[in-house]
Amino acid sequence: MIRAKITGTGSCLPEKVLTNFDMERMLDTSDEWIVARTGIHERRIAGEGEYTSTFATAAAHKALEAAGVDAADLDLIVIGTVTPDFPFPATACIVQQNLGASKATCFDLNAACSGFLYALATAEKFIAGGTAKKALVIGAEVLSRIVDWSDRNTCLLFGDGAGAAVLEATRGESGILSTHLHTDGNHWETLYQKGCGSRNPASQKNLDERLIYLSMHGNEVFKLAVRAMGEVSLEALAASGLSPDDVSLFIPHQANLRIVEAVGKRLGIDADRVFVNLHRYGNTSAASIPIALDEARRAGRIKEGDLVLLAAFGGGLTWGSAALRW
Ligand code: UT7
Repeated sequence: MIRAKITGTGSCLPEKVLTNFDMERMLDTSDEWIVARTGIHERRIAGEGEYTSTFATAAAHKALEAAGVDAADLDLIVIGTVTPDFPFPATACIVQQNLGASKATCFDLNAACSGFLYALATAEKFIAGGTAKKALVIGAEVLSRIVDWSDRNTCLLFGDGAGAAVLEATRGESGILSTHLHTDGNHWETLYQKGCGSRNPASQKNLDERLIYLSMHGNEVFKLAVRAMGEVSLEALAASGLSPDDVSLFIPHQANLRIVEAVGKRLGIDADRVFVNLHRYGNTSAASIPIALDEARRAGRIKEGDLVLLAAFGGGLTWGSAALRW
């Protein structure tokens, strides 16, 4: 049986830091409120001349280096993003050019904050089916360019950055054990970007009416996220006859510390087996899991043979999980 295995990871964050104290000067909010309700202390924001492809390319270079894979040997590049450089072409095409990955098939995929897991599951199917031997999976976002900086309900939650993973075909016992993806379009209006698509195209009127920005019903999303991430995590473990006790490291989507803690509690996975870095980066949407995975790996928190569980939730609504034997 051919299995897909992550053989290298990389990440890249913008240098510019925006702290909660900076936010206090911009909005009617406080460091105390943000930390208590979200766990976020600061976030990274793209500077002038930095785009989604900038961070995606830098993260990809690091992942390729860690895997010892030449970009020219990649068969596939999939990027999960809701903030591509342009509506088209796919940002994956721009990253292909930057890397010189000339034989790779390239496309973007939109599953909001679940984007990396959707991209990972897609690449895994290409590899398991024999269509690709080496794939690059990226989650990359510049959310700072689609949030309304006058809306305290949303802007302070999000941040920019990218994470990448190289997947290779293997026949061993380690690698991706299973992936599970779900969607419920009945709740699409709880979290979406109102403008710049075919409903509210870029226009002065839509800009004046603030119809171009990200919109979210935070409370609703919160409740759905806790339930869905808990269920889909158990689904991933059950598929391999495993239980939460077997998990070496749980890496949930980094949206809100209260969500992360609630999901960990539901699963019975204690805090020292749950990876958290949202205090430094906020919610980076599709980039959050691959950034966390890369940081965890580089910090020595993932060792050969470990069971790593990934779970995400986002706009769509979408949610998903992956169980990995490292
Ligand atoms: O990536 C996946 C998608 N996104 C998420 O997972 C986000 C899920 N949702 C959340 O993380 C939380 O719902 C939020 C962090 C967005 C909001 O936290 P909350 O505990 O649900 O707060 P709330 O919206 O119920 O607001 C509580 C209070 C309100 O005041 P009153 O009505 O109680 O007087 C708000 O007006 O906090 C007030 N408030 C703020 N105060 C200071 C709302 N935003 C702020 C703010 N600063 N930024």
